[in-house]
Parts: sequence; structure tokens; C-alpha cells
Amino acid sequence: MAVQTVASTTDTAASPVDLGPAAALSCRECGHRVPLGPVFACEECFGPLEIAYDFSAYDTEELRRRIEAGPANIWRYAPLLPVPADVATKPNINPGWTKLVKADNLARELGVTGGLYVKDDSGNPTHSFKDRVVAQALEAARAFGFTTLSCSSTGNLAGAVGAAAARAGFRSCVFIPHDLEQGKVVMAAVYGGELVGIEGNYDDVNRFCSELIGDPAGEGWGFVNVNLRPYYAEGSKTLAYEICEQLGWQLPDQIVVPIASGSQLTKIDKGLQELIKLGLVEDKPYKIFGAQAEGCSPVSTAYKAGHDVVRPQKPNTIAKSLAIGNPADGPYVLDIARRTGGAVEDVTDEQVVDAIKLLARTEGIFAETAGGVTVGVTRKLIENGVLDPSLTTVVLNTGDGLKTLDAVAGTGLTATIRPNLESFREAGLV
Ligand SMILES: Cc1ncc(COP(=O)(O)O)c(C=O)c1O
Ligand SMILES: [Zn+2]
Repeated sequence: MAVQTVASTTDTAASPVDLGPAAALSCRECGHRVPLGPVFACEECFGPLEIAYDFSAYDTEELRRRIEAGPANIWRYAPLLPVPADVATKPNINPGWTKLVKADNLARELGVTGGLYVKDDSGNPTHSFKDRVVAQALEAARAFGFTTLSCSSTGNLAGAVGAAAARAGFRSCVFIPHDLEQGKVVMAAVYGGELVGIEGNYDDVNRFCSELIGDPAGEGWGFVNVNLRPYYAEGSKTLAYEICEQLGWQLPDQIVVPIASGSQLTKIDKGLQELIKLGLVEDKPYKIFGAQAEGCSPVSTAYKAGHDVVRPQKPNTIAKSLAIGNPADGPYVLDIARRTGGAVEDVTDEQVVDAIKLLARTEGIFAETAGGVTVGVTRKLIENGVLDPSLTTVVLNTGDGLKTLDAVAGTGLTATIRPNLESFREAGLV
């Protein structure tokens, strides 16, 4: 499996679209380059295409000043993204610049002494990190002349696409497994687009979307995570940029990232590599840890077995946003975890719920199940001596607990009393 490299900075392949520093699409496996377009697989080897940039004109200190003077959202990093220079003036959902919370209480509970931070992406417009990737895909859809935005989703992406399409005046038609959490279904439907439940799991939904793309019925549609995937995926780099900038332009030593398709984890690594190459952070080692739920753990299973190949699984977990049994970027995640000295681990649904409550009780952050997975895995990795508690560690919370209320359904009233002091005293609360 090829180790990821930041694409060459010298490519100047002519392209009819203006997507800023994006110069071409480059195959991650064989390096074959094609002009920017709504394609995602290499015509030579079927490997995934990703964006190759021309960053050659940048002066490090000038770039740093430009970023710091930019808006308080992902567009401060426009010089490093496949978007036109005037992106901030266009109708978009403008996600990002979410809080990096110094989690001292959680650190004490977990025994972390080197500094523990939670990157809290529940603060995005539709309350998950998916707004970052959709905002990118929307700009690509605009550049390529699509008028309908679509996706296959485990829930969060559907809401992000619905919101972005509504704001930018696109039609949206999105596809989800029919049995998702009510919070996610409502979040996806409320923006007025079409929402279709598919009788099957996420992998069935994804297969259906691939068929639709090849059919006249899907003509003119931008599927954010299929034919716009190279652009979409770049949105996750902004998590890496923000974490480093918020740490005072420093790399963290360790990052714990949830895995569904694995795209986010691979792009966080790409973002960190770019910051090093551009001189915006000091070049030093960092470790990336991947987190899954035991009920959908194809990548951690492969990692623990020492395999390079990820065997598909049938998901069965409360962490539905991470329930991708056949993760497209799984092998790249294995590469990155092994190359950086990280690991991939999983936790049970019970541990996910415990971790959601732990984060809420210690830091006042209510995470969705994906955040329970990362916090739970962090705890397990510390207990197993894999994650070093003396190093600076960032844990991602990628979604809002209000979306997965069922996960903590037993949590509720401490007591029900009559409206008088006697009844209050009787309840044993004083
Ligand atoms: C809340 C949340 N976190 C993390 C992920 C993982 O994303 P990826 O598919 O990039 O691994 C998802 C994907 O749906 C998600 O909804
Ligand atoms: Zn190729």
C-alpha cells in the first residue's frame, strides 16, 4: 500500500475551473494525473483520486499572517483548499473554527499529564464535522455546474448536505439507512430537501448511490462523497489546521480520531504533513490513533491482526454515524496508524455510553456516540499503556449528543416532587 505523500507543488495542468491552489487530481496509488473534474477513481488503476496543489508561491510568514487575518471559519485556510479565492463571499454554511477545549477535568480522571484537549466539532452549523466536508463539496459542485446535491449518509452528512443546499439554492436529494436515530432524520429533513430511507445498511445505501451515478436518473447530480469525494475529503484537513493554529502553531503529540470510511483520519494526516512542508509548524513526530465501535470495527480488527487488508463487517452498534462496514480508506488508515506509531482500537457500546457521560460530567460537553467512541478509546489506550499520558493529546468530538439521545435514554429526572419544600426534603436532596 502506498504511503501518502503531499502532491507535487509543480503541476500546472490547465483546468477550466477556478478552485484556487488546486492544480489537478492525482491518483493516490499510481500518481496518474488528470485535470480537475467530478471524478473520483483513477482511469489507470482505479485508485482514489485526490487533489494536487500548487503551493509554490507561498511565503511561510505571509501565509501565516493571511490565515490569521482570515474569517473565523474554514475559509481562513482558503489558500490551502480547493476553493476560489473569493469563497468567503459566496453563500455557504461557513463551518469551522470550533473550540479546542482544554479538558483539565477529563485529564485528571484519565491520568493525562501532558495536556488534554477536546476539539469540539459539535459547534458546527448542523452540529457535526460533516459541515466541513460538505462546504468544500458545495464549492466543487458550483464550479462543475451541478444543481442537485446528493449523498449516501450515516446521518450527519445528510443534514449537512440539506443545510448547505438550502443556503446555496441547490436542490438536495439524500439517501440514508431507513432506521437511523430520529434526531438525525429530523435534522436531515428540516431543511426542505428530499430525504430517502433505504431498506438496508450504509453499505447498501452507498452501493445504490454508485448505481444512480451511472444512470441517467442521476445526471447533473453532485454526490458529495462519491463523484465529488476528492474535494469533499479535503474539508477534513481543516481540523488539522485548526488544532495546530489553536495550539499556537504547534503539532499535538497524539490525536484520537473516529473512523467510519476513514477519510477524516487520512486527511488530518495530510493536513499535518502540509503544515510541516509549508513551514507553518515545526517538523516533529506525531501519532494518529483511530477509534471504532466494537460492533463495527473492520479497521481495528485488521490493525490488531497485523493485516493490510480490511475485511468488511456487518455493523451492529449504537455508534451509527461510524457504522460503515466496508470503509473505503481503511487500508490508508492502517498505513497512517503504523507509520506514525499510533494504533487503532475499539470499544463496546457500553463503554461508548460511559464515555459520553464521562465527557459530559467532566467538561460539560455532550457528545454524540462518535465522541463516546473517541473518548472511550482514549481511556482504553491509556489503560493499556498504548497512548502516552505525558504527551499533548487531542481527542475529537465530531458530533452533538442531541442527535443520539437514545444512547443515554436512561438519563433523566433525579426526582419528581410536589412544588413545596417538604416534598423537596423528602426526596433526600438536602
Ligand atoms: C460524527 C461523525 N464522526 C466521524 C465520522 C467519520 O467520518 P469518515 O467517514 O471520514 O471516517 C462520521 C461519518 O459519518 C460522523 O458522522
Ligand atoms: Zn492510478
